[in-house]
Amino acid sequence: MTNSPTILVFDSGLGGLTVLREVVAARPDAHYVYVADDAFFPYGHHSEDEIIARVVPLMGELIGTHDPDLAVIACNTASTLVLSHLRAAYSLPFVGTVPAIKPACAQSKTRRVSVLGTKGTVKREYTKALIRDFAQGCEVTLVGSPDLASLAEAALRGEPISDRDILAELAPCFVGDAGDASTRTDTVVLACTHYPLLLDRLKQLAPWPVAWIDPAPAIARRVSDLLGAATSGIVQSGAEMIFTSNRIHGLSATLTPFFGGRAVA
Ligand code: DGL
Repeated sequence: MTNSPTILVFDSGLGGLTVLREVVAARPDAHYVYVADDAFFPYGHHSEDEIIARVVPLMGELIGTHDPDLAVIACNTASTLVLSHLRAAYSLPFVGTVPAIKPACAQSKTRRVSVLGTKGTVKREYTKALIRDFAQGCEVTLVGSPDLASLAEAALRGEPISDRDILAELAPCFVGDAGDASTRTDTVVLACTHYPLLLDRLKQLAPWPVAWIDPAPAIARRVSDLLGAATSGIVQSGAEMIFTSNRIHGLSATLTPFFGGRAVA
């Protein structure tokens, strides 16, 4: 690859920015196109058929327009459903974001792990298969959150979000006797790319300390491996952000750090 590679990062909204920032750090030589399908947000509220019918043709249009070298589906709710369809339909490499159940169960000492995702992600057959294959004897609690992704977007827009609203979504992840650190939940998988946006609040509000598993660094390594060696001589390439609603976001200053400081067109 002699030119700067183009990486398309796709999510239902702003959550995929938590994956983007890791990919950007791993591959500063790439050109980035971030697509937020905000016209259809939140994916967690749509049926499986609706998501497949939405994402597969939309991705075809985006590939036609931007000709990316690789696409990252930075959304668990979509990846757990559409990756096989996308790979069958289009020839470029796709990297998905799916619940990090394997590393979480491998590191849990108490053998109690919770998976916090959208209602869609925790219902998926894909997620259940990950538990069957990789729980390694751990008790895995699936917590389907109706509103945490929307709360994370609101927080990123600078709106006040109450502790009570966050805690209502988070509390079911904490299983076991709070006073017994040897048996209570010790690991929570962040199975929605929006949730790391709230990580400081989640840590503050958690009834006891746990390990929070965010797969973004592993996704970034996978992207870098697939692209091969970085383009020599290119220190930093450009970035574009697209909202499918065509709305004017007015968030440039907030979003710039996720793009590694690039000016976002
Ligand atoms: N960011 C998405 C995920 O990782 C979901 C948010 C939504 O419901 O659209 O699952």
